[in-house]
Amino acid sequence: METTLENLERHWMPFTPNRDFKRQPRMFVRASGMYYSDPSGRRVLDGSSGLFCSPAGHCRPEIAAAVAEQLETLDFTPSFLRGHPGAFALADGVAALTPKGVDHVFFCNSGSEAVDTAMKVALAYHIARNEGQRNYFVSRERAYHGVNIGGTALSGMVRNRDTFGALMPGILHLRHTLLPENRLSRGLGAKGAELAEDLQRFVNLVGEKRIAAVFVEPIAGSTGVIVPPRGYLERLREICTRYGILLVFDEVICGFGRTGAAFAANEFGITPDLMTMAKALTNGAQPMGAVAVRDSIYRTIVDAAPGGMPEFFHGYTYSAHPAACAAGLATLAIYEREQLFARARELSDYFLDAMYALQDLPAVADVRGFGLLAGVEVKPGKAPGARGVELQGKLFDRGLHVKTTGDNAIMAPAFIASRADIDLMAQILRDAIGEY
Ligand SMILES: Cc1ncc(COP(=O)(O)O)c(C=O)c1O
Repeated sequence: METTLENLERHWMPFTPNRDFKRQPRMFVRASGMYYSDPSGRRVLDGSSGLFCSPAGHCRPEIAAAVAEQLETLDFTPSFLRGHPGAFALADGVAALTPKGVDHVFFCNSGSEAVDTAMKVALAYHIARNEGQRNYFVSRERAYHGVNIGGTALSGMVRNRDTFGALMPGILHLRHTLLPENRLSRGLGAKGAELAEDLQRFVNLVGEKRIAAVFVEPIAGSTGVIVPPRGYLERLREICTRYGILLVFDEVICGFGRTGAAFAANEFGITPDLMTMAKALTNGAQPMGAVAVRDSIYRTIVDAAPGGMPEFFHGYTYSAHPAACAAGLATLAIYEREQLFARARELSDYFLDAMYALQDLPAVADVRGFGLLAGVEVKPGKAPGARGVELQGKLFDRGLHVKTTGDNAIMAPAFIASRADIDLMAQILRDAIGEY
């Protein structure tokens, strides 16, 4: 199809300055491995696994074949009162990767749905235990938990909230952990574990039995990669356990190998009560999200309900869609066969060396990273975030796709990246940021 301004108008693009895009469209028409191609055939290196979605690289034939075969065999079945084998197999596959005991899996279609589903699981769990008065949620400044009403209310990024007003009552935000003392530190920051005490203060403020759950991204991704201070997540876990508060790790970015382990929970040795995931679950080839739930939570909700009726009045038409399950199973098989999480760990030092080397550029304000995830923050231009948007365009024009948020470029290469891919990524970043 020929691209004209006329036919670009009708698609209202998400999280995009529509008028700018439509004046200067930056389209992709193909992808393979580490590269996208634009309509002219120019190749663009993918520095962000699309949007943290495709760690096994683009257009994997095994995934395409599995989806095609599924669509020819059983294209759709409701997941309410009906099942299909792929859903159960994929739940087993996910549960084999999550920490022991967090092994019941509820499927949905995105990270946002996973977050709102997890909020409802937490509420239903407390109601089933006769603690329905627990209806506060705690999250964190600078958090990103998707765009549904619950997740937007949990979110701690002002631009994602301020258009929509009050959203939901009863949400308390921990302070974020981006501290000047940890500037340019690599991996877990040395300072800031005591910020977890904010949770204790909320307990003191609203009551010992009022908070349902705490949502945190183990590494806050979309805000520009904030790696937690050493001891911080452990302290949150302790306080949650002491007061019967559920700890939810939002692993939508960290999950499936980004830290070098299957999940950040595994990497940091902390077992949350619920985990949300999406994106790399299907290598981005089908929309899918999931919530992994501790056995005791599943048992409490299911066993408290009278028989003969659904125990949890929640679910999506496309929960556990057969094609998404097929993509998920094929993806997990690739991760296993090619040992891609171990590959991410092996490549991490090389990648982080290349990213931290950018700190000598005058315009670089900070570099943060862990595993195969890094944020390079540039000093603000005329308005906060303006340089980030401009930089994203400059990088694209030089042949590198990365996500930017505010004045942060967020790099998350696929785990199949070669050292040469990392070198090229670093060179393009250096050339573009070097212009400031
Ligand atoms: C931590 C986190 N939670 C939730 C989401 C929302 O996921 P989705 O865009 O699939 O709804 C994202 C998306 O980037 C995310 O990073």
